[in-house]
Amino acid sequence: MSVNSDPVKVMKREVGIAAASRVESDSIVGLGTGSTTAYAIEHIGKRLESGELKNIVGIPTSFQAEVLAKKYGIPLAALNAVDRIDVAIDGADEVDPNKNLIKGGGAAHTREKVVDSLADTFIVVVDKGKLVDRLGSTFLLPVEVIPMALAPVTRALKKLGGNPELRMGIKKAGPIVTDQGNLVIDVKFEEIADPAALEKTINNIPGVLENGLFVGVADLVLIGEIVDGKPVVRQM
Ligand code: 5RP
Repeated sequence: MSVNSDPVKVMKREVGIAAASRVESDSIVGLGTGSTTAYAIEHIGKRLESGELKNIVGIPTSFQAEVLAKKYGIPLAALNAVDRIDVAIDGADEVDPNKNLIKGGGAAHTREKVVDSLADTFIVVVDKGKLVDRLGSTFLLPVEVIPMALAPVTRALKKLGGNPELRMGIKKAGPIVTDQGNLVIDVKFEEIADPAALEKTINNIPGVLENGLFVGVADLVLIGEIVDGKPVVRQM
């Protein structure tokens, strides 16, 4: 199926391009992970190639982002080599009306949280299917855990009222392994009444590296939609 015949892909592409169009020359850019951000990375690369954009340094949030940035000619640096991030562009799995997010559909939420929260401006790029009234209503909450602590962390998440499931690989036997060599537990909570409190509580479990709740991190949410058969991008 081509991009043009798939409305979700059209929305993702439009919103990715819209975010990439906001990037200015001489800036350090956090490069997020996922299919929506991939369009943004591609467009930043095209702007660099055309000369419209100059002197960009990308900070990738994953191996995927690094590979794409290299493919599209975006110079990269390690986070430890820079003293700021001007803007980060990243996708999300759910966005609530307070711009709080669930991320981690690509198991990259640990590095994403580091990079996105350091950025002066964090732009979230989503298609309108990602908008929810309450976090946790359509997507499980990803929790990255070090392998030796899988069993106790799973028990602790159950005690918190969650229904945890180890994320398994597709076209890979066994569980998925993150860029840091860890595992991901996806947790169904009946209700996430207080995302800020749950984010902290889960991160306090020994063995948890990071969870996918991003509370108070997003500055701007751009939403791709189809209106009257045409793709449009609006700001939340
Ligand atoms: C990866 C993420 C992604 O940003 C999130 O899963 C959205 O992905 P996509 O743009 O492919 O829908 O958090 O860990």
